[in-house]
Amino acid sequence: MSLNDENSEKMSAAATEIAALSAEAILSGLSADNQDRKIIVLDETDSTNNEAKKLAAEGAPHGTVVIADSQTSGKGRLDRRFVSPAGKGLYMSVIIRPEFDIKFAPMITSAAAVAASIAVEELCGCEVQIKWVNDLYINGKKISGILTESAVNSGGKSLEYAVIGIGINICSITEHLDEELKLRASSIEDETGNIPDRNALCAAVLNELDTWLGKIEDRSYITEYRQREFLTGKRITAESGGKIISGTAVGIDRNANLMVELSNGEIINLNSGEANLLKK
Ligand code: BTN
Repeated sequence: MSLNDENSEKMSAAATEIAALSAEAILSGLSADNQDRKIIVLDETDSTNNEAKKLAAEGAPHGTVVIADSQTSGKGRLDRRFVSPAGKGLYMSVIIRPEFDIKFAPMITSAAAVAASIAVEELCGCEVQIKWVNDLYINGKKISGILTESAVNSGGKSLEYAVIGIGINICSITEHLDEELKLRASSIEDETGNIPDRNALCAAVLNELDTWLGKIEDRSYITEYRQREFLTGKRITAESGGKIISGTAVGIDRNANLMVELSNGEIINLNSGEANLLKK
């Protein structure tokens, strides 16, 4: 069976409607050594990240997942809202308790972006790009975002936990977006014409997270990140040290920072914030 046959088989079960969330169905897509994973499925919550942070603070184990059909206050980076209507997307938050040194913590989001991209590619058979640092794109439109929130251990040398929040627009949400967002945001359905099975997609994201979070310390996930990064080679604008800069994105460094070449030839490495294509 070819990869495309496999993909269309995975999608055919729910081609016109989104699957109801089911912990059992998600578990059936996880590997044998993952069958005791705690999966919490909610109808509605303010934010799965908030829910997961509460559980993490109460001691929930590594790997616990909170998934909701809808969020009333879905959060994005930079204090933005993540539109999360019922029956339209995958809104999930995973608690991890990484043992690595705190210096690797800023790389969690980019490793998660690789994991989510590969999961969407597997299920949809389409090309996914990553816009530094946390957005997934299909056909130049955002279909997913990632928000990682974490708490540091008292010694300050490692994380007590991190919550990786992933939102994927599966079905069209155009009617829920304002005019400005309509220009930038989209969904898997709008960009590919297909609706992947939501539980299978969730399981694929969890499987891929296991793989790619394990490749942070040796930085080997960065190769996959670089292959998909959308801004590289393009003229961009960004904020750096309180100043607006513009230049050419020339690559991703070994710490997943965006490297930008300024007009005087100087290269700066951005480790936070947001970069956007420069409008002509
Ligand atoms: C972004 O676009 O800047 C990040 C969006 C992250 C959205 C997800 S949906 C699941 C989890 N819960 C939230 O409130 N946010 C994340």
